[in-house]
Amino acid sequence: MSLFRKKNIDAMLAVAKDDGLKKVLGPTDLVMMGIGAIVGTGIFVLTGTGALTAGPALTVSFLIAAIACGFAALCYAEFASAIPVSGSIYTYSYATLGEIVAWIIGWDLLLEYGLATSAVSVGWSGYFQSLMAGFGLHLPAVLTAAPGALPGVHTLLNLPAFLIMMVIAWVVSYGVRESARVTNLMVIVKISVVLLFIAVGVWHVKPANWQPFSPFGAAGVFNAAALVFFAFIGFDAVSSAAEEVRNPRRDLPIGIIGSLAVCTVLYVAMAAIMTGIVPFPKFAGVDHPVSLALQFAGETWVAGFVDLGAILGMTTVILVMTFAQTRIIFAMSRDGLLPERLSSVHPVHATPYFATWTVGIVFAVIAAFVPLNVLAELINIGTLAAFTLVSIAVLVLRRTRPDLPHAFRCPGGPVVPVLSIAFCAFLIAHLQALTWIAFLIWLVLGLAIYFLYARRNAVLHNHGG
Ligand code: ALA
Repeated sequence: MSLFRKKNIDAMLAVAKDDGLKKVLGPTDLVMMGIGAIVGTGIFVLTGTGALTAGPALTVSFLIAAIACGFAALCYAEFASAIPVSGSIYTYSYATLGEIVAWIIGWDLLLEYGLATSAVSVGWSGYFQSLMAGFGLHLPAVLTAAPGALPGVHTLLNLPAFLIMMVIAWVVSYGVRESARVTNLMVIVKISVVLLFIAVGVWHVKPANWQPFSPFGAAGVFNAAALVFFAFIGFDAVSSAAEEVRNPRRDLPIGIIGSLAVCTVLYVAMAAIMTGIVPFPKFAGVDHPVSLALQFAGETWVAGFVDLGAILGMTTVILVMTFAQTRIIFAMSRDGLLPERLSSVHPVHATPYFATWTVGIVFAVIAAFVPLNVLAELINIGTLAAFTLVSIAVLVLRRTRPDLPHAFRCPGGPVVPVLSIAFCAFLIAHLQALTWIAFLIWLVLGLAIYFLYARRNAVLHNHGG
């Protein structure tokens, strides 16, 4: 039974109060942080593939993905308001479902956030290079992409993707207040650019382009939903900042649900306008579908601004994902499941700098050397699995600890967690078989490390709860 040993929630809350991390974040910071993590490669790059898969019914795909995330977000919010400690659902599950489940979730989140930073850095690099090309600046071809990423071109590494990851690692290791400031500024620019797209694009919509609305039927809509789910990933990162929030019980739910709601409205509007301007087959092979729509409408200047906004947008995604990743590693290391060094806090900046640089370097190398076209799906399956587990954990926590103070509770009794589980399972079923296999390999590797290292070194193993 020691596989399912659990952490004592009250002891965890006490540690969180006095952990050396600064409590500086408020509700606005959290909503901004959520939007910072959400709006990025999904809407700026994957929308093109989504439109090819679903046709103009892409709007419905976005809605389905948003509903799945909405149920999961409510569960996150309930959990985050009950147990506001660092480490997100990894920590929540350690207290409710037991150590091995917590390990699997933590291992899963490392995949989600880590590969997401790599994938988004590669997307960033593409937009950055095209913006530079507009000024006549070109990198030597060998430095533009991972080996084998461009057919017929000899490439060695994706230098811009590597460098942006290093810059972000530096910002995150410098301090959380500073990271929040940089994020807030870039998020404002990013939202302005999205609103600009909507305000300008809406006048160029030709409703005839929305016919036929759903050329590939329900299957197309669902497959696109499983893909564009990626565009919503990130609201969960808000909960990983729990120990750095001034009033976590009230502010975490606001941050999680608020950021998801804002993004859903923006995405559905953008998808409707994009497919209303451009006949959807024209999105084939396009990696900048949003600015393509504006160019198609003859708004070349606005398209340039959108490119710039996309670059900033992706920068904040990398930033917040890196932040979330380091906080989960921090929590796992503090529990003894990962080496102790990873939870050391910098004496001046009060940040887990060693974990930050480790993560930064590992995923920068992946971004530089691995072509990342299948990664969106792999990231999605990791996230959906984690969302399913958090919904189960909410049900368990209500039974085992009905006494914990909740500033926020999902309405409708067990309905929300159960619907969340059902929607996540449904979307997982629409991912490709190859994704399933890759995910299983990752899980087996994680279990091997658990049994060979983590289990024996766990704080619970040596000192009890
Ligand atoms: N939601 C994030 C993005 O679309 C991961 O870039």
